[in-house]
Amino acid sequence: SENGYDLWLRYAPITDSSLKDHYLDYFTSFHCIADDPTAVVIRKELALAASSMLGIIPNETSRSKASLVIATVENLDIPANITNQLGTEGYYISANRGQVTVTANTSIGLLYGTYHLLRLTQMGEPLGSLSIIEAPKTKIRILNHWDNLDRSSERGYAGFSIWDWHRLPGYIDQRYIDYARANASIGINATVLTNVNANAQVLTPMYLEKVKALADVFRPYGIRVYLTARFSAPIEIGGLKTADPLAPEVQTWWQKKAEEIYSMIPDFGGFLVKANSEGQPGPQNYGRNHADGANMLADALRPFGGTVMWRAFVYSDEEPDDRAKQAYNEFKPLDGQFHENVMIQVKNGPIDFQPREPFHPLFGAMPNTPLMMEFQITQEYLGQATQLVYLAPMYEECLQSDTYAKGESSTVASVIDGTLHDYQLTGMAGVANIGTDINWTGHPMAQSNWYAFGRLAWNPQLDAQQIADEWIRATFGNERKVVETISELMLNSWETAVSYMTPLGLHHLMGTSHHYGPAPWVDNLSRADWTPYYYHKSNQGGIGFDRTSTGSNATSQYFPPVASTFNDPDSCPEKFLLWFHHLPWTCKMKSGKTLWEALAYHYQNGVAEVRRMQAQWKQLKPYIDHERHQSVSMLLDIQEQEAIWWKDACMSYFQSKSGLPYPEAMEAPQ
Ligand code: GCU
Repeated sequence: SENGYDLWLRYAPITDSSLKDHYLDYFTSFHCIADDPTAVVIRKELALAASSMLGIIPNETSRSKASLVIATVENLDIPANITNQLGTEGYYISANRGQVTVTANTSIGLLYGTYHLLRLTQMGEPLGSLSIIEAPKTKIRILNHWDNLDRSSERGYAGFSIWDWHRLPGYIDQRYIDYARANASIGINATVLTNVNANAQVLTPMYLEKVKALADVFRPYGIRVYLTARFSAPIEIGGLKTADPLAPEVQTWWQKKAEEIYSMIPDFGGFLVKANSEGQPGPQNYGRNHADGANMLADALRPFGGTVMWRAFVYSDEEPDDRAKQAYNEFKPLDGQFHENVMIQVKNGPIDFQPREPFHPLFGAMPNTPLMMEFQITQEYLGQATQLVYLAPMYEECLQSDTYAKGESSTVASVIDGTLHDYQLTGMAGVANIGTDINWTGHPMAQSNWYAFGRLAWNPQLDAQQIADEWIRATFGNERKVVETISELMLNSWETAVSYMTPLGLHHLMGTSHHYGPAPWVDNLSRADWTPYYYHKSNQGGIGFDRTSTGSNATSQYFPPVASTFNDPDSCPEKFLLWFHHLPWTCKMKSGKTLWEALAYHYQNGVAEVRRMQAQWKQLKPYIDHERHQSVSMLLDIQEQEAIWWKDACMSYFQSKSGLPYPEAMEAPQ
């Protein structure tokens, strides 16, 4: 349809007749040896896809007559060296004499394999000589919904929460099923239904009934449900006087709670916890540390196989000298003290989902504690739902960063996939951008960020370009002009947004609390670490946050040689320059420009790039359905205005500090 509801599962009719014949050869008859609820899902998806793409409903037939066989390994003759690689979620797709076989150790593996086959079909790839072995590189690939029980969504820009608590458990919205399909199609296998700023209510029996209903819907799609656990829940809903993790009555309360949850949801995933951060309660309220808190919850979940995801996004109410250092300072000393079913969930960068951040110094620094990645998919600081910003290049930059924890090639990706430190638990979380908007994500192109997150969680080594290519083909078709133009547009979009918002390592210049648009001049909030001025500190002498050894010394939290690279303005990558250094306006950049000129150039260039995106998109009018084309066009017009807003606001303000004239060819603010 034209409204975007179908996401990347559009299954557009295949018009090229030879390609259509080719696919008809494979999808006309199939054989599926599996008989559980997941097999029902597989059959349904095949029927939906084949009827939409090819105008047929595949016949179920005997194995020898079928052109497509979908069966777990014990039904087939698959060599052990292959089955050994598949684990519980992987699959093997092969083609032999006109027959395509999808096999796996489990029916979830078959579902993932089926989706892979359908992806290839949507992309117009031939199926005749396939030999694909795929298995996920991380165990828990999880969305974090920052959704409240009143259906508002913290930092959600796509309508309201899709969880209709009022009508659950009795009413199962079709959206839940389509949500599960979309996630399964990209390998997402878990979801946290509730906000990290948790409300303990969700742990009461009335809500658990509703959670159970959702878990039942998601189970055949391989998706496990998790909940946020408010640390003070024993007080708020349990009637206890304390939530001290070492108090026996508190431990018993959580054990009973876990028992209750698992009696209803036997495959419940576990808890996500934000504690002692931004006013949330936590173990430190009782003089205990993060390990005491996390381990207490972990012990309650352990008999049932549950996991605690304890967030490292902490910063205290006391004024820190540099908020960027706090997570490392609090967590690194606890390495090795967490029980085996605890993971620490770390944001990609040390501040807070800024347009661009250097990687978080905790990656590589906790060899004895499994760390999982937390990316933000919803664009809190990146234009929210009015701007086209494809985030995979940002995720990729972080994942490919070298921590040097064990010498060269100790990438963040190798921390996350567990290979660097031999983690037994691995995972990646994405703060969801999903809401009740017809197209799910507000901006039609923001669907690509959900897609990219899932693909990178499955394999953190994938590249942004390949992911864009897959998504575009499934979402907009295989026309060369369409694929090339949108791909270029998407791949430049993040760098463009960084240019007109926070170039050269600037950060947190956004308007207070809503984070929409520029407000670098705000310098008088009650807390320094919420104040834009604190992050750029511009004055007549220059601009930037000194995090070197003469400043906050945050650079020392990185391993050598990263620490010294960041510490020296000559070796620090220019993209992070003002993150780590306070420099004079007139200092020289590698290009020969002064810092002031370079800043102006970035803001100006960001605007120019948005205009180029508008022009590129215009060219696609004949190739894309009216509704989606029009909607992206309108949003790009807004984005242009917002880019100008950023440029004018920031440059005017910075000029009031630098006192320097606009460089030539710079459009002066109006
Ligand atoms: C950001 C965001 C908050 C959120 C917090 C978190 O600060 O603005 O809304 O609660 O991150 O990740 O916990």
